[in-house]
Amino acid sequence: MFTKKEIIEILKDDTKNEWLFSLADKTRKENVGDGIHLRGLVEFSNICKCNCKYCGLRKDNNNADRYRILKDEIIKIVKHASDMGYKTIVLQSGEDGYYTTDKMVEIIKSIKEFDVALTLSIGERSYEDYKAFKDAGADRYLIRIETTDKNLYKQMHPNMDFDNRLRCLKDLKTLGYEVGTGCLVGLPNQTTESLADDILFFREIQADMVGIGPFIPHPDTPLNNADKGSFTLALKVMALTRIMLPDINIPATTAMETLHPNGRIIALKSGANVVMPNITTQQYRAKYEIYPDKICVNDNPDKCRNCIGAKIKSIGRFVAENYGFSHNKG
Ligand code: 5AD
Ligand code: SF4
Ligand code: FES
Repeated sequence: MFTKKEIIEILKDDTKNEWLFSLADKTRKENVGDGIHLRGLVEFSNICKCNCKYCGLRKDNNNADRYRILKDEIIKIVKHASDMGYKTIVLQSGEDGYYTTDKMVEIIKSIKEFDVALTLSIGERSYEDYKAFKDAGADRYLIRIETTDKNLYKQMHPNMDFDNRLRCLKDLKTLGYEVGTGCLVGLPNQTTESLADDILFFREIQADMVGIGPFIPHPDTPLNNADKGSFTLALKVMALTRIMLPDINIPATTAMETLHPNGRIIALKSGANVVMPNITTQQYRAKYEIYPDKICVNDNPDKCRNCIGAKIKSIGRFVAENYGFSHNKG
């Protein structure tokens, strides 16, 4: 365990990176083992009422070609993924009001007829909605805090409220979800100190999962001219998160692979134990452009499953067969 001061020092000093990555790898091996959990990701709507400055799906981006995948088609995608052996499905979308409480509950119930754990990643909703989704069978929820720096949060999220995001995380915990959060690394004006605070925040709220990715500027956003985040710094924040929260689930994120051709494998060797392969039908993939040059936009669910399976094997690890609940609960 490191103090805040030590975390900041480690983040600033690039001479000990190899030591940090191997300590994170050892911590991962001792606490969660060599199995890698695959979570099949369905990007079911790119319509969003929010205006996050960094995101290509933001409401004001008129160049985005919007789509919604309706229930029957979602179920087909999930069935195929379940047939391929996926034990967790992640439903992700922009904050799209079309999916009312009742519509989500119907989708959740149908998915839970398959032998899968279900994660939702659909943004800020009311306590009542979160409760309805939980009662319908949802197991986990992902909602990144994005940054714990309140000033930066305000700059990046016009019309959003940091305290409401905290409220969401708290409600989800209270309702018994496994809760995933995380942050972006390399946002304009983000400080090293705030990254250390992000890591301490993950501990404080007892996150079950933490996803960390570099910021990648999107041409159709107000941050189009900003510098992209550093792959190495994102990897360091991730490695420190593993050391500080030894038994949680940590994905090797798609954004890492977008900045580095071998990014996910490097992440899996530096503390990560989860991969979230895209199981969305190929026709929609290019349209879910949170950031440019996203990987796998020309690939299909079977191709991604085989690709990632081979990569995992190549580093002497294996695809875990259980649901991958946190803290090794099976
Ligand atoms: N670069 C990297 N990650 C991004 N996200 C949104 N926009 C970008 C971007 N330009 C991340 C956010 C969000 C997740 C779904 O995608 O952290 O929580
Ligand atoms: Fe919407 Fe999420 Fe993109 Fe923000 S990050 S604009 S909430 S899809
Ligand atoms: Fe999609 Fe490699 S994971 S092609």
